[in-house]
Amino acid sequence: MYSLFKSLFLFTFQIEGGWRADGKGLSIWDKFAHTPLKVFNDDNGDIACDSYNKIEEDVAILKQLKVTHYRFSISWSRVLPDGTTKHINEAGINYYHRLVDALLAANIEPHVTLYHWDLPQALQDTGGWENEAIVFKFRDYADLIFSRFGHKVKFWITINEPYNVANIGHGYGTAAPGISLRPGTLPYIVGHHLIKAHAEAWHLYNDTYRASQKGIISITINSDWTEPRNPYKQEDIDAARRVLQFYIGWFAHPIFNGDYNDIMKTVIRERSLAAGLPKSRLPEFSLEEIKRIKGTYDYFGFNHYTTVLTSPVNYGKLQHYDADRGAGLIADRTWLDSGSSWLKVSPFGFRKILNFIKKEYGNPPIIITENGISERGPFNLNDIHRSYYYEKYINQMLKAYLLDDVDIRGFTAWTLMDNLEWATGFEERFGLFYVNRSDPNLPRVPKASAAFYTTLINCNGFPD
Ligand code: NOJ
Repeated sequence: MYSLFKSLFLFTFQIEGGWRADGKGLSIWDKFAHTPLKVFNDDNGDIACDSYNKIEEDVAILKQLKVTHYRFSISWSRVLPDGTTKHINEAGINYYHRLVDALLAANIEPHVTLYHWDLPQALQDTGGWENEAIVFKFRDYADLIFSRFGHKVKFWITINEPYNVANIGHGYGTAAPGISLRPGTLPYIVGHHLIKAHAEAWHLYNDTYRASQKGIISITINSDWTEPRNPYKQEDIDAARRVLQFYIGWFAHPIFNGDYNDIMKTVIRERSLAAGLPKSRLPEFSLEEIKRIKGTYDYFGFNHYTTVLTSPVNYGKLQHYDADRGAGLIADRTWLDSGSSWLKVSPFGFRKILNFIKKEYGNPPIIITENGISERGPFNLNDIHRSYYYEKYINQMLKAYLLDDVDIRGFTAWTLMDNLEWATGFEERFGLFYVNRSDPNLPRVPKASAAFYTTLINCNGFPD
């Protein structure tokens, strides 16, 4: 179905701009970024890369790269300003039609994410992902998008990185909506609703649209690989297993295998009871819910960047996600740095985690929906670290594909152009294209890695 190298990625809030254009409603990221000191340098997404006004330019650089697919997300509040279908913003719908049409005219398949973190603020005001009502609001929104775009779009992602929505947005609070009050409870509630919302959208597509529209739909789950800090120490090995189940397993287990995994269920229950709570802080799925959620995928959408070394840490009675997971995470001193504190170059983990997905989740088809590296500081078009990173990571992916029979169907680089890297603003840059922010036209300038990536696409792998 795919050639191995396919797409690049654009995201609404990170590159789109047009934050108030043509009737768009506010999102939680608009609000968060306008709150002083939340985003590095007080950067925001008001203009971002101005992709709202630069469809032709963006499609032209995609063509130049020769990608076959383009991953982007629809901004919920651009099409439904208050989050509900009571008021549909046709101008917002029209913008995505123009983008999709331009892509199709260039022979580039759109791969569309319904939720990439920018919840309509109006829905946050009624409890956001904490309020179970969101499950059906999300389904209604998905319904609108499938009905309007499904004749053109054949690749869907319901939710991008539920782990970060739950844990960063509602545990650490360093992403919108920026809540950190109940860090060992709220992330699990939010996660629960994200899983249900995903499942409802999948079923809707499966029951109502699949026969006529013939697309595929899934969720994108992110995870680092976890490696025991000391491979000879059982407690480090256990910590690696545990952290992985709290990471990829949190969302993948219910969707691919059914229900939360035993490690999370046991650990959180024991720790909740020990703290005197009447029941586990991890919500339970009913038997019907387990059945309804299990199998709601057509492929495993996977975002991966790095590896961590694990060893146990006992945080005592602290009611926090980190304390539940009970491990310290560090990087090996020899791994090369990136522009992001959490991202160290550790390609071996990519092959390992792809094999883990194959084994743990029943050998699903996998689409890598993100992989890439950042830099920060003065701009330098000669980004050899990025070509190095892609060469090493793609090499490991090809080993998983060719030698280990992992069913990999596609690869997506993160990302097309430098953009707003969430709370770190424009400071961390992941693009194959540099965006010159001191020029009001925001020109996109290819870095050296852009040509390297095109070579990979042309050869569908490394040059002979
Ligand atoms: C995860 C997210 O999906 C994306 O929005 C983010 O910019 C990249 N990874 C890099 O951190």
